[in-house]
Amino acid sequence: MKQRGRGKEKLVYGGKGLGRLNGRAVFVPQVAPGDLIVAEETSRKSGYSEARVVKLLERGPGRVRPRCPYFGKCGGCDWQHISYRKQVEFKRAVVEENLQKIGKIKRPNIDEVIPSPSPWNYRNRVQVKVKGGKVGFFAKNSHSVVEVERCPLLKEDLEGIFPRLKELLPKLPTEPAEFHLYSSSKDEVLLKIVFPRQFKRVELELEELKELLGVNLVGFGIYRQGSSGYPERIKFFGRDFTYELVGKFKFRVSADSFFQVNRFQVGNLIDRVARGAMEHQYMLAGDLYCGVGTLTIPVARYVHRAFGVEANFSAVADALYNKDINGLRNVNFYCRETEEALKIIRENGPDLVVVDPPRSGLNEKIIRTIATLPRLRRVIYVSCNPATLARDVALFYKYGVHMERAKVLDMFPQTYHVETICFLRKVK
Ligand SMILES: C[S@@+](CC[C@H](N)C(=O)[O-])C[C@H]1O[C@@H](n2cnc3c(N)ncnc32)[C@H](O)[C@@H]1O
Repeated sequence: MKQRGRGKEKLVYGGKGLGRLNGRAVFVPQVAPGDLIVAEETSRKSGYSEARVVKLLERGPGRVRPRCPYFGKCGGCDWQHISYRKQVEFKRAVVEENLQKIGKIKRPNIDEVIPSPSPWNYRNRVQVKVKGGKVGFFAKNSHSVVEVERCPLLKEDLEGIFPRLKELLPKLPTEPAEFHLYSSSKDEVLLKIVFPRQFKRVELELEELKELLGVNLVGFGIYRQGSSGYPERIKFFGRDFTYELVGKFKFRVSADSFFQVNRFQVGNLIDRVARGAMEHQYMLAGDLYCGVGTLTIPVARYVHRAFGVEANFSAVADALYNKDINGLRNVNFYCRETEEALKIIRENGPDLVVVDPPRSGLNEKIIRTIATLPRLRRVIYVSCNPATLARDVALFYKYGVHMERAKVLDMFPQTYHVETICFLRKVK
């Protein structure tokens, strides 16, 4: 059944527009608030419906022409049809609403919204999908590959690399499942060729590959898809790390370590977290999910001592190296899952805790451990998922740690994803 309606309500986390028809919530992808559309119901659930746009009758304010010809087919972007200013406004509203509804905070204090200095060419890394000779990205909610020639979200040296990756396919013994590319602030590129389980030998030289791809390739690795969800390394050729320069900090980042994807926003993230660490004379900062020490090392400059906890061995090796190249002697790193490091965290007893977990967020045991640390004063929670952040903030309240303020930082322009830096303090 087709229905006409104006989606003036809002955009929700997940990127869809929420409109109402006869009081019933209807979620529709690729709309902008204020659009007048004809929509067709695609599924009916208890309490709400999913629908798709059949016709756009009137354009809402803030609608723009998507820059990319693949927008709508490729699953990478959600909001290219919305002006960047509006995207940032909507992200702020999504964070606020999650903190209100899930976090049960009446009036969350969002004291700063930090748009990406550029909403294009910001991504320093990409996972390119390969299937049946096609090179590109998965379509939305699907494992079919949409072939692309360019991606305007990528750093300039990676933006048009897709046809060159396609040329590489006949030189490989079997079709890979993915190419992972990472280009650092020094324009040094690392490539992972990820094969499905049935792996055969690869006869490729670094120089040959560098010429073919037309980028400053410093190393490439052969991987196979792992059961853990992460690719498993088989062999690496050339250098398996590069460096990032962020303001006065230098970080070594290995091919298997995490680094923040928006090259224009890393400095702002570091700056805001480090400023939080400057506000008191903290004795000991614990940085959980610390990666290569991106936040631990800047924070360590303003506190007496600091330690980081990180599950990935490669990232911990980088972090240990990074503390030396940044001239710090007051930092220590533990290679552990946070869940396995609770005793270490308790014994260290930090008065400042920084957490930057994956999208799934924390759990009650971790939150209780942090919140009941005897000397705890402040928690800085960096989150890439407002829903799990809000859930965890509510749990922190249960243990006497309250939200002071939050900053919304747009790490992922053109998508619905958003980063939040939430400052909490121990009140009892
Ligand atoms: C969002 S990244 C943040 C890294 C770092 N704070 C930064 O800004 O670059 C999350 C990190 O948590 C690590 N990680 C994932 N699960 C973990 C766990 N259970 N315990 C500890 N670290 C974990 C990942 O390897 C990754 O480095």
